[in-house]
Amino acid sequence: MPSFAPHPPLVFDESGTPLSTLYGDVFRSRAGAWAEAQAVFVEGCALPQRWDEFAGDPSDASFTVLELGFGLGVNFLATLRAWRERSGPPARLHFFSVEAHPLAVEDLRHALDVLGAPPADAQHLLAAWPAALPGMHRLSFEADAVTLTLCFGDALALVPKLRLGADAFFLDGFAPARNPRMWDPALLRALGRLARTGATLATWSAAGAVREALAGAGFEVERVAGHAGKRHRLRARHAPRWPGARPPEPPPHWPARTALVVGAGLAGAATAAGFARRGWQVTVLEAGGGPLRGGSAQPLCADHLHLSPDDNPLARLRVRELFGRHRAGV
Ligand SMILES: C[S@@+](CC[C@H](N)C(=O)[O-])C[C@H]1O[C@@H](n2cnc3c(N)ncnc32)[C@H](O)[C@@H]1O
Repeated sequence: MPSFAPHPPLVFDESGTPLSTLYGDVFRSRAGAWAEAQAVFVEGCALPQRWDEFAGDPSDASFTVLELGFGLGVNFLATLRAWRERSGPPARLHFFSVEAHPLAVEDLRHALDVLGAPPADAQHLLAAWPAALPGMHRLSFEADAVTLTLCFGDALALVPKLRLGADAFFLDGFAPARNPRMWDPALLRALGRLARTGATLATWSAAGAVREALAGAGFEVERVAGHAGKRHRLRARHAPRWPGARPPEPPPHWPARTALVVGAGLAGAATAAGFARRGWQVTVLEAGGGPLRGGSAQPLCADHLHLSPDDNPLARLRVRELFGRHRAGV
């Protein structure tokens, strides 16, 4: 299996459930995508209860979910809805999802339509859906209060290199027997290193090897009744018996929320705008009397062909610009 490649066109099985021809497995339970997302992941990670702990917290409190396998985005959309419906949830939600085979936007649109996704949220996701280029793609929802970071690439290669603290984990790769890479003990150990104190984890799988690997990664694992006729699934909480390296820091808290930005070129202006969107008071110092008065004001820019021996994003971008979209795969 290539470590990164756009997903081939989506097909639907005889019950109308989206199926991956890459892995020979369904993207969602045949018993209902939204009920599964809510029961197995949102409630499996106890998100509503955990969010209640934030009631009365500062206005910049944030909560991070790390998901393995974005797929059709059902778990993300279900989490977004749960966050919106909760009264007093953490002010900011960061949903970080790793996906090695992003769908084409037309396939995603069709699948979300067939599954009956909430139309406004689906539309927002589709409008912001990035090109299938490896790396990080950041999408913003709910006036910047909710961030979706799509990390396009192979989880086993990327997750050990991530630098973040996660409060909850959704393990949603295809079945371990069909896709062992998504349940590799090294990958689950990497999750343990990213877990903030008390982080919760959920998956529909109850495979013995997954349980063992999670226990080895410092999770206290509980096997509970499965969803919609499945015998079992797993819930877990990070509670290492021998804490090794320090757990990731809790998110920083900025009581004053004021910032000083020096320079109103492209970078400074974008930084100031980003702070302002998040409700910070920003002061910008600029000698030129207005934005974009220095180098950022150049009306032209020089460019040159970038030849690269490998398929890196910079090379792809140049090929796209110079030869048009139809040659982008050259
Ligand atoms: C069951 S689907 C995920 C469903 C999704 N969470 C949702 O809510 O719609 C599993 C996903 O894992 C992705 N995947 C499989 N192997 C992967 C890997 N090694 N790294 C990252 N993603 C992978 C697949 O492309 C697929 O989209």
